[in-house]
Amino acid sequence: MAPEDLVQAGRPNLFTPYKMGKFNLSHRVVLAPMTRSRAVNEIPFEAHALYYSQRATPGGLLISEGTSPSNTASGYPRVPGIYTEEQVEAWKKVVDAVHAKGSIFFCQLWHVGRASHHVYQPNGRSPISSTNKPLSDEVGAWLPDGSIDKFSKPRALQTYEIPQVVQHYRQAALNSIRAGFDGVEIHGAHGYLIDQFLKDGVNDRVDEYGGSLENRCRFLIQVLEAVVSAIGAERVSVRISPVHDINDATDSDPLGLGLAVIERLNKLQLKFGSKLAYLHVTRPRLTAEGAKQNVNEEEEAKLIKTLKNAYDGTLIASGGFTGETGQKSIANGEADLISYGRLFISNPDLVLRFKQNASLNKYDRQTFYTKDPVVGYTDYPFLNQATDGIEE
Ligand SMILES: Cc1cc2nc3c(=O)[nH]c(=O)nc-3n(C[C@H](O)[C@H](O)[C@H](O)COP(=O)(O)O)c2cc1C
Repeated sequence: MAPEDLVQAGRPNLFTPYKMGKFNLSHRVVLAPMTRSRAVNEIPFEAHALYYSQRATPGGLLISEGTSPSNTASGYPRVPGIYTEEQVEAWKKVVDAVHAKGSIFFCQLWHVGRASHHVYQPNGRSPISSTNKPLSDEVGAWLPDGSIDKFSKPRALQTYEIPQVVQHYRQAALNSIRAGFDGVEIHGAHGYLIDQFLKDGVNDRVDEYGGSLENRCRFLIQVLEAVVSAIGAERVSVRISPVHDINDATDSDPLGLGLAVIERLNKLQLKFGSKLAYLHVTRPRLTAEGAKQNVNEEEEAKLIKTLKNAYDGTLIASGGFTGETGQKSIANGEADLISYGRLFISNPDLVLRFKQNASLNKYDRQTFYTKDPVVGYTDYPFLNQATDGIEE
């Protein structure tokens, strides 16, 4: 069926309100978490408040850029943190600006693990991971001065050190709530620290965090349990990308891994007597360079639907959606909400543009990660500059 027919057939669409646990969403167009490399000394400032508030709509859901839960978590330039008081205070202003526009705002907690370089690590130490194996040479670490170097050789965490890393996530979640965020998204995707534990192509441990699916899922589940017990399940969400091999994160049975994680999320929800806010799944078509050309759309839809059917809660799908394909996925029951990345970078009023079926601004990849606080960040034009693109 064409998208118009699906809407006519009474199926939900991008503009059907949605109850996500305690949060009432007025539409289903979500801002995907996106690193924009604009923080100064790991601290967000006025430009961030403007950037996020431009993309906020009443009853919309925004997810922040990946934000460091500790001083070992970063591997990219100008990433903000949420582990010091100064960072928490700075985030408060950003969150206030978003709340003033009526949006719900989740903070994505991101530990890159081995996708780092010793220049980002305290005292120039080795990045931490599930493994001592470095990332392949094909992918390079981007240093603060703009140059590229190999990722540094990581150090596998000792078993006894893992509870401390879990504790960092817990504290960062508490800090996020103190900063006013409505919840947190635990970044368990894209080959970063948690994914380095989940995937058998990376995890070569022989302790209780390696080997079986049970063991490989243990770190993620311990992080979630710690965070849920601190701030409540309804404010916690998780992102996974089982089928996505970015940053060398391969697995011999991606679908089996996705289903294993979901089985444990369902159990955790039963244990805590409350659902998580949502599960965010990246479709396999996303790559570091953009969209894969040879993705079989039908296969991909089937895969997301299998995960959606297995999960007892809200599912957000991400990766390569247009307004039309997002509409279709929701109507076909493949996802409850759709997150948009690149289109939201270049269209601060993406929600309004989708609603009006208006044309979209093209994004400029060259300015995705620059330090300019305006160009490519807050200067993309609104459809209607006179009203600042605000709907109501
Ligand atoms: C500039 C940029 C930065 C990104 N940073 C993050 C990030 O910090 N955390 C994350 O989970 N995904 C990140 N992603 C992936 C996006 O959340 C999203 O899944 C991806 O862009 C695919 O969606 P799209 O096709 O709508 O752009 C990033 C993507 C882009 C383009």
